[in-house]
Order: sequence, then structure tokens, then C-alpha cells
Amino acid sequence: MGHGKLRKFAENETFRCLVQPSYEEVVASKEGGLVLRDHPLKGRWNGMFSAEAPIVLELGCGRGEYTIDLSLRIPQKNYIGVDIKGARLWKGAKYATEHGLGNVAFLRTRIEFIESFFAPGEISEIWLTFSDPQLKSENNRLTCPRFLERYRKFLAPGGVVHLKTDSTFLYQYSKAVAEASSLEILYATEDLYGSSPRINVPSLYEVQTYYERMFLSMGLKIKYLSFRLDHDGPFVTPEFDAKYWKAVEGPRRTFDHNPQPSNGK
Ligand SMILES: C[S@@+](CC[C@H](N)C(=O)[O-])C[C@H]1O[C@@H](n2cnc3c(N)ncnc32)[C@H](O)[C@@H]1O
Repeated sequence: MGHGKLRKFAENETFRCLVQPSYEEVVASKEGGLVLRDHPLKGRWNGMFSAEAPIVLELGCGRGEYTIDLSLRIPQKNYIGVDIKGARLWKGAKYATEHGLGNVAFLRTRIEFIESFFAPGEISEIWLTFSDPQLKSENNRLTCPRFLERYRKFLAPGGVVHLKTDSTFLYQYSKAVAEASSLEILYATEDLYGSSPRINVPSLYEVQTYYERMFLSMGLKIKYLSFRLDHDGPFVTPEFDAKYWKAVEGPRRTFDHNPQPSNGK
């Protein structure tokens, strides 16, 4: 591991706004299987912030720019960015610390464990920003029925899930899940910046993630979908022609999140 990463991991330990539970704090073995433990912050997250307010979650927040920017533009809410990569979270946690942001926290964990951390009704909104479309593995897609079931456990009544993505595949899949599950779809557009009328979600157009800016600079279209989760029925695996949508998607673009400067070799 490079010195830069080690330095960031060491500094991460000093950030009050960054929660980094160990695996053992989250997962326990019971009767030969694994079970999730409740984290001590479950139901108590508002104690992390300078004021009590609705809490917005960003899952897969990377360096946390979306979380930070939302917190600055809409300061009457509290925000938690979640990611597994400590070196990326460092950037957001450092910014929040140095700028004394009282309405931002970060959580380093796998999203698969997310229900360990939040009590029923504790979260008011979820943002999924440029999530990996997981072309091969449906159960890893952050909008698959299994993940929606996890989110339902802690999303408040009327709570909304927002998906912003460059991926036609993930957008079409997520819309198919929402439709098959009879969820209330609030907005669905394949070209957020190119279609009118504008969608009435505060800061939707103004706040952009690292990946979003990169895709926009390449002239790619950004898709946006939002839906409510509060229904009592099951979340349904949709009829979805993955082969077709994979072909529409084409080869997946991959980017280095922290490119090294070239030394010419
Ligand atoms: C493509 S990046 C997008 C980052 C950021 N939202 C943006 O738009 O710039 C996806 C992020 O999700 C995180 N991620 C993917 N799967 C995850 C999981 N199961 N649990 C936690 N983080 C995950 C990755 O570490 C990565 O930082």
C-alpha cells in the first residue's frame, strides 16, 4: 500500500465525522451462520450532527462531493455519505472537518450491511449516485429487490430513492424493478440535462459528482429516476432483457479515481 493511502487511513482515525466500524462490530456468527449486529449509532445518528434534522443518505459516495455539496446548498438537512473505500472517504471527511460542517457524516462500510446502522424511519431520502451497474450480478445492483428490502427497513414513510446514472442498463433495470413492484415513480428521464420541463428536485442539476462531471464532459447523457419505497408488497424481480440492455450499453467505461501523474515512462 502506498504512503499516500497509509497517511489518509491514519488521518481518517482522527475525523469525528467519519465512522469506521470493524467487521466484527457489524457481523457476528450465530448457529453456524452469520448475522448482522445493531451498531450503537442505530437510531441515534442525529446526535452526530449539530442540530436534529431529516437525514439524507448517499450510498457509494466515493469522495463525498455530492454529500458535501448537498449539505452546503440545503443546510436544513443532515447528510451521511457511505462507501467502503477509506482513501476516497478521506477527501469528504477532511473537507467536512476543516470547514466545520455540522450536518455531514461519513460511514465506511459495505452497503450490504446498511440495515445494521439505521432504525425504522431514521432516513428520509437515499441517493444512489453513479453506482456500478453490476452487469453480471443482479444481486449486487443497488436497486435490486434485495437492496430495496434493506432500505425499506429504515426509510421514513414517503421516503424517496433517487438514482443518477450514466448507465442505460442500470437505469432501465431500476425502472423495471420499480414498475414490477408497483412503486410510485416520481420522475424518470433518460436525458436529465437535455429534456424539459425541468424536474423539481432541489439542487438536482446543480450538484454533480466526480463521475457525473466526467461523463458530462464526454458528452454523455445522465439518467435520473426517483421513486417512493413505502409500499407493503414484495419487491419483484422484473422481466428484464439483460442481454439486450448490455448490448445497448456497450463496453463499460472505467476510470481511475486517483490517477497518478505520468512520469513519462
Ligand atoms: C463509480 S463510484 C461513484 C462514486 C461517486 N458516487 C461519484 O459519482 O463520483 C462507486 C462507488 O461506490 C462504492 N461502492 C460500490 N459498491 C459498494 C458496496 N457494496 N459497499 C460500499 N461501497 C460500494 C465504490 O467504492 C465507489 O466509491
